[in-house]
Amino acid sequence: MSKISVSIAGGSGYTGGELLRLLLFHPHVKIKQVTSEKYAGKPVFKIHPNLRTITSLRFSTIEELKDCDCLFLALSHGRSLHKIDFFCGLAPKLIDLSSDFRLLTTEQYRRWYGINHPRPELLTQFVYGIPEIHRQEIKSATRVACAGCNATAALLGLYPLYQTPLCHPAKTIVEVKAGSSQSGRSPSPGSHHPERNGCYRVYQPTGHRHIGEILQELSLLWDSSFHFTATSVEMVRGIQAVSHVFLSEPATEKDIWKTYRQFYGSEPFIRIVKDNSGLYRLPEPKILSGTNFCDIGFSKDPLSDHLVVVSALDNLMKGAAGQAVQNFNIMNGLPEKTALNFPGLHPI
Ligand SMILES: NC(=O)c1ccc[n+]([C@@H]2O[C@H](COP(=O)([O-])OP(=O)(O)OC[C@H]3O[C@@H](n4cnc5c(N)ncnc54)[C@H](OP(=O)(O)O)[C@@H]3O)[C@@H](O)[C@H]2O)c1
Repeated sequence: MSKISVSIAGGSGYTGGELLRLLLFHPHVKIKQVTSEKYAGKPVFKIHPNLRTITSLRFSTIEELKDCDCLFLALSHGRSLHKIDFFCGLAPKLIDLSSDFRLLTTEQYRRWYGINHPRPELLTQFVYGIPEIHRQEIKSATRVACAGCNATAALLGLYPLYQTPLCHPAKTIVEVKAGSSQSGRSPSPGSHHPERNGCYRVYQPTGHRHIGEILQELSLLWDSSFHFTATSVEMVRGIQAVSHVFLSEPATEKDIWKTYRQFYGSEPFIRIVKDNSGLYRLPEPKILSGTNFCDIGFSKDPLSDHLVVVSALDNLMKGAAGQAVQNFNIMNGLPEKTALNFPGLHPI
């Protein structure tokens, strides 16, 4: 099988670095170009030191990009959209990691991003990139918009429950704790070490942009009883979503198990983590660093309708680059786990 040529626009960022790490070891991929405007001409290992001696690739500019079979866009918010016609002309397959094409309508985009989407006709051309929800569409898609990292963690925990009468349309409250790499490599006042180190900061109590894509995928109305709060915690990688679901029908833990097993039984990257004893009884992001797993666990209060769902993942992997490579494999008819077999480290 001849190799599939890919390029990465935005290869100097954190998700771009992870894409490089994964794709350099993908047996069916040849990386053609990787871009950075700031570091054009420099070897990629100068920015991604883990890749020293692994590749001799150097950064190009976006203007220097040539045709390839699949183009990954790992650019800051708004930058994919800015040059979308140019990018579409370079490759028959496009995988965007940004939020520029995740929502299906311009009304939704305006509601969550505060502006009219300048290219609304393109929105429905992108498939929302969570394989566990949209695998069939992704198989034949030419354009995929990968999901937000917080949204991926929350949605993978909640989606199976929302396919049953169990919690629809009851109230749900999601509490996300996230590591610092979520904000990308550009420094900001909030990422300055004395301000970020040791913090436990509620940075988005209400109105988080990812709510839009979560409501869209759960088929919920804008004014539904869905609440989402995001907090920065002391981690570099990782997200843990704790979702409080109030069941609208009586259910036991056995029923909940059955629901998840039915939905995720053959999923390669979903693990149900719910043990009665031991340290890792419920999902924790720490041991997922560098892996493409999303671990999901739950606990049902036997005395009430309250179900706590815990889902965890690495924001740069299953929440971004790993998800993108999983989508790439699906779009190209390759085994879904190709280049995504890393089981993580323990202890870490
Ligand atoms: N970090 C996460 O956990 C995560 C998870 C899911 C999705 N995402 C999304 O993935 C995308 C990349 O995230 P990231 O964390 O990797 O960001 P990042 O570390 O800040 O990297 C951003 C990349 O975009 C490039 N860039 C920025 N402004 C540009 C411009 N005006 N023209 C051309 N290139 C420009 C940068 O290149 P230069 O070297 O030229 O500056 C860099 O390569 C974002 O849209 C983000 O929302 C991130």
